[in-house]
Amino acid sequence: MALLALGLDPCSLLGLVFFQLLLLLLSPATTMDSGKGPMPRVKYYAGDGRRALSFFHQKGLRDFDTLLLSSDGNTLYVGAREAILALNIQDPGVPRLKNMISWPASDRKKSECALKKKNNETQCFNFIRVLVSFNDTHLYACGTFAFSPACTFIGLQDSHLLPILEDKVTEGKGQSPFDPAHKHTAVLVDGMLYSGTMNNFLGSEPILMRTLGSQPVLKTDTFLRWLHPDASFVAAIPSTQVVYFFFEETASEFDFFERLHTSRVARVCKNDVGGEKLLQKKWTTFLKAQLLCAQEGQLPFNVIRHAVLLPAEAPSVPRIYAVFTSQWQVGGTRSSAVCTFSLTDIERVFKGKYKELNKETSRWTTYRGHETDPRPGSCSVGPSSDKALTFMKDHFLMDEQVVGAPLLVKSGVEYTQLAVETAQGLDGRSHLVMYLGTSTGSLHKAVLSGHSTAYLVEEIQLFPDPEPVHNLQLAPTQGAIFVGFSGGVWKVPRANCSVYESCVDCVLARDPHCAWDPESRICRLLSNPNLSSWKQDMERGNPEWACAHGPMGRSHRPQSRPQLIKEVLVVPNSILELPCPHMSALASYRWSHGKAAIPETSSAIYNGSLLLLPRDGVGGLYQCVATENGFSYPVVSYWVDSQDQPLAMDPELAGVPRERVEVPLTRVGGAAMAAPRSYWPHFLVVTVLLALVLSGALIILLASPLGALRARGKVQGCGTLPPGEKAPLSREQRQQPPKEHRTSASDMDTDNNHLGTEVA
Ligand SMILES: *[C@@H]1O[C@H](CO)[C@@H](O)[C@H](O)[C@H]1NC(C)=O
Ligand SMILES: *[C@@H]1O[C@H](CO)[C@@H](O)[C@H](O)[C@H]1NC(C)=O
Ligand SMILES: *[C@@H]1O[C@H](CO)[C@@H](O)[C@H](O)[C@H]1NC(C)=O
Ligand SMILES: *[C@@H]1O[C@H](CO)[C@@H](O)[C@H](O)[C@H]1NC(C)=O
Ligand SMILES: *[C@@H]1O[C@H](CO)[C@@H](O)[C@H](O)[C@H]1NC(C)=O
Repeated sequence: MALLALGLDPCSLLGLVFFQLLLLLLSPATTMDSGKGPMPRVKYYAGDGRRALSFFHQKGLRDFDTLLLSSDGNTLYVGAREAILALNIQDPGVPRLKNMISWPASDRKKSECALKKKNNETQCFNFIRVLVSFNDTHLYACGTFAFSPACTFIGLQDSHLLPILEDKVTEGKGQSPFDPAHKHTAVLVDGMLYSGTMNNFLGSEPILMRTLGSQPVLKTDTFLRWLHPDASFVAAIPSTQVVYFFFEETASEFDFFERLHTSRVARVCKNDVGGEKLLQKKWTTFLKAQLLCAQEGQLPFNVIRHAVLLPAEAPSVPRIYAVFTSQWQVGGTRSSAVCTFSLTDIERVFKGKYKELNKETSRWTTYRGHETDPRPGSCSVGPSSDKALTFMKDHFLMDEQVVGAPLLVKSGVEYTQLAVETAQGLDGRSHLVMYLGTSTGSLHKAVLSGHSTAYLVEEIQLFPDPEPVHNLQLAPTQGAIFVGFSGGVWKVPRANCSVYESCVDCVLARDPHCAWDPESRICRLLSNPNLSSWKQDMERGNPEWACAHGPMGRSHRPQSRPQLIKEVLVVPNSILELPCPHMSALASYRWSHGKAAIPETSSAIYNGSLLLLPRDGVGGLYQCVATENGFSYPVVSYWVDSQDQPLAMDPELAGVPRERVEVPLTRVGGAAMAAPRSYWPHFLVVTVLLALVLSGALIILLASPLGALRARGKVQGCGTLPPGEKAPLSREQRQQPPKEHRTSASDMDTDNNHLGTEVA
């Protein structure tokens, strides 16, 4: 046989074949292709102890859809199905219920809802959709009220909710949607509620509306088709003079063979009072423009999902951050992008040219005609002329697009929500931190520090079962973000710096909230950014610079000294499994064996672990080395030794602390199995396959007298079996004819000599 001719002894051959087969069969659910774009450096599954989250839930309550933070940041108001709760979030740990009031839809509305063929088990309830702070003593809330929207004021006493009086409940059309599945948005500005939602039972009439307060109630005019009937609102953001609405609708200005979605920003002036003769009780300042979030040369991300404003400290301009997905799936996966828009750009587009619909060709073209002064649609004081209002009826779409800058583009994920804040790093600079909720219930923490694209510090799977993240509420004073979902409210601390166990890991993580404290040797939450001895390198994430005393070239020490050496004793006839935790998805991992190469014929790497078949000369130092950001460091170091002939320790490693550890074993010969491993069933399959392969090989060998001679000679000299152990290969070979290889597991039970059985 070729392999034998290559000079490999049969045990190496066995080892090799065994490992290769083991690997083939075990080939684990390799890290699923999580698409293009930045990878989260660390990933936590639901319930991972390294990222312990607090969870609030209340028996009998569902759909924790709306979150509102009190102005002092100590109370979280939650709108659930038919109830509103006040949670005390002041203390660390699980949020505590302060009190709760119920607000069910009336029985009459519920039966009407069921009569209209809506589901009385899932839809005919009061789902809270609007929850805002009205003044110091009152909240204002709206709900779907069994497909009959209703609103009410809720009194507060020491941030406890006072019961809702039935006669204080008013109609809420235009403020809350009818259908809990419909999108909506609302914001309270100067005592007035600006809302964007569906205004009818069928969900075919979108509306932008202003209610409450002293100013007249204003609406969009349905007849003028300022909004496409499928408009879906995701955010409302007030600015100095105007209120911006972010939404998505079918674009009618493009000729396209399929329904084309487009993202929009619309704006209305706060001082709008409606027209006198024309556009009575209607907006006279409604304008909308297209939002473009695209990477050059690629299909645009045309569906906006959520938008937030990050107020800026002067001199920089406030910016809008928004998540987008695409209507098209490329390669069967959805992709998402985060884009940022400056308010200045948005303002500029609204001051630019209008589009108008050419009635003859039914096409939208740039309006090049005369503009009156004051400009139609501007927030000028004083009543607009009839002429300007007539113009406004048809000129509500801006010619130019607002072009955003993509900060993060990622395929294979669908972002549904975001929250942003800035975090001050050790260097005093401020870094943008974005928390991105996905359609499958995970949270990405993305950081933008100086450069133009963001990286993902971590991904936390929040819910055990995938469901979209519907809302995120940052609570900066608590250092946490709250996530409401169907079953309760999660409290997610901004970071758990203690998961980074070394300075290297702490620095490579590039989490602006974490820094290494060399004194206590702990990666800590950065609370007071004036600790000159702490280590962080947000700019480059270079541990060599941050973790050593001052800067030094990367080439001097390619690899740092291990912090701890784990001592492992060889057990005869067993495969040693040396685990290596793959903490960072951005690192590449490899195994090293002192200065020598890993003995290839008696080792294999499975799921990051090094599997070692003990043979002579296999002992020594084994290190799992991670390389990340151009820096290599040992993740774990093992000293493999045998009891009989202890090896002399490398003098270079003197002084490194040592610890005796047990590692998982798989027995491959000899007596009973030591520790049954989780992949024991796979092992059985392997042995069966190996039996097939080797019996085939034996047939070939026996067919050639020379080969048979050579084989017999080699087989008997199987070197790794300790003295006294029977030589299974040769014995079984003689006892059983090649055809009768046994394959059932029961055979193995009676004859524990597995390798022998296989070769038969
Ligand atoms: C943070 O991580 C450490 C180390 O993995 C763990 O022991 C601790 O419980 C974690 N704490 C939280 C709040 O997740
Ligand atoms: C829904 O209606 C069915 C009959 O139409 C009734 O049996 C059921 O109890 C109702 N469910 C609820 C939650 O009211
Ligand atoms: C807050 O608003 C409510 C509802 O309009 C009103 O009754 C109450 O007097 C207001 N409280 C204050 C302090 O303005
Ligand atoms: C910050 O540290 C410097 C010295 O490193 C010190 O002079 C200064 O007073 C500190 N500032 C604060 C606010 O603690
Ligand atoms: C891969 O290794 C990790 C630990 O390093 C372990 O948690 C995981 O269960 C292993 N996967 C399989 C399929 O063995």
